[in-house]
Amino acid sequence: MKHAAIIGVGSYLPNRRLTNEDLEGMVETSDEWITTRTGISERRLAEKDQATSDLATHAARNAMRDAGITPADIDLLVVGTSSPDMIFPSTACITQANLGLTCPAYDVMAACTSFIFALQNATAAIESGRARTVLVIGADALTRHVDFSDRGTCILFGDGAGAFVLQAADEPGVLGIDLGADGTGGDMLKIPAGGSAMPTTVETIEAGLHFVQMVGNDVFKFAVRVIPKTTETALAASGLSVDDVTWLVPHQANQRILDTVADRLGLPHERVVSNIALTGNTSAASIPLAVDELYTSGNLRPGDILALVGFGAGLTWGAAIVRWTKEV
Ligand code: UT7
Repeated sequence: MKHAAIIGVGSYLPNRRLTNEDLEGMVETSDEWITTRTGISERRLAEKDQATSDLATHAARNAMRDAGITPADIDLLVVGTSSPDMIFPSTACITQANLGLTCPAYDVMAACTSFIFALQNATAAIESGRARTVLVIGADALTRHVDFSDRGTCILFGDGAGAFVLQAADEPGVLGIDLGADGTGGDMLKIPAGGSAMPTTVETIEAGLHFVQMVGNDVFKFAVRVIPKTTETALAASGLSVDDVTWLVPHQANQRILDTVADRLGLPHERVVSNIALTGNTSAASIPLAVDELYTSGNLRPGDILALVGFGAGLTWGAAIVRWTKEV
């Protein structure tokens, strides 16, 4: 059996910045509250003419350049997103056309865990021999779905995209993956309107039902419970333990979640990657964005063990253990 290894990484953040000071002028909040409760100082917003596929396309081009491959080399494109350009066609198909690819392309939706689910699809395609080279992207523009008069949610989210190129290899890169879902927790975090259950009407818009709704405290408790568990399960499936982890790369949702999870896993905080201060919660993009930052800052060495861990609406969660095989 072939293994899947990461041969390219790329990311993209839009230029438009929204700082905590900007938010102070929009809702009743303060830089002090946002910083101490979330660790976020600023986030990026997609430009008015940028859709999720545009963010995905930029990140993918950077990852393809890093991998040194051309569009013809790619056998499969998987995009993880919960803020697609439109209901259909998929964001993956739009991105495929932007990139000039001719391979199959599809979206995977597991909210903020979408990238880990997409990575599982990409890995399985390579391990089964159905694909040799797979482009996997996490991209979201959730600020398009946030109510900028709701201080409980509008301070959290930012837009962005990150991408990996995976290729068949003799030595394993992706070692083990654990995925989970619990649909009974769906009400904790959702966008109620705009789908088949509640199509968009004047009434749903007037009631603000097309915006993100979140029970923040419950999501927080879910996150700090599930992240250590799924990390340990994926490590065990890889024949490793927490002591082997060089870098824990959790979904960037709240600095207090990252700190609590580090303590529960017994990991020194400096081994937990955090870039939330400047990105906010970029949903499916946050994990590949953080990996790209680690990589481009020269902090990854061949042999390093990465634990990539996501959680989000659904409820969904998942962890992927990766041995870094790429030279810096
Ligand atoms: O991708 C996964 C998605 N989401 C998450 O992971 C989110 C997880 N949850 C969280 O990060 C936190 O629950 C939040 C940051 C959303 C909220 O922080 P918290 O410490 O749980 O605050 P809280 O909701 O318990 O609210 C405490 C107080 C409330 O006021 P009262 O009732 O005590 O008077 C809120 O109204 O803080 C108030 N508050 C704010 N104050 C200033 C809530 N949001 C704000 C705000 N600025 N932006």
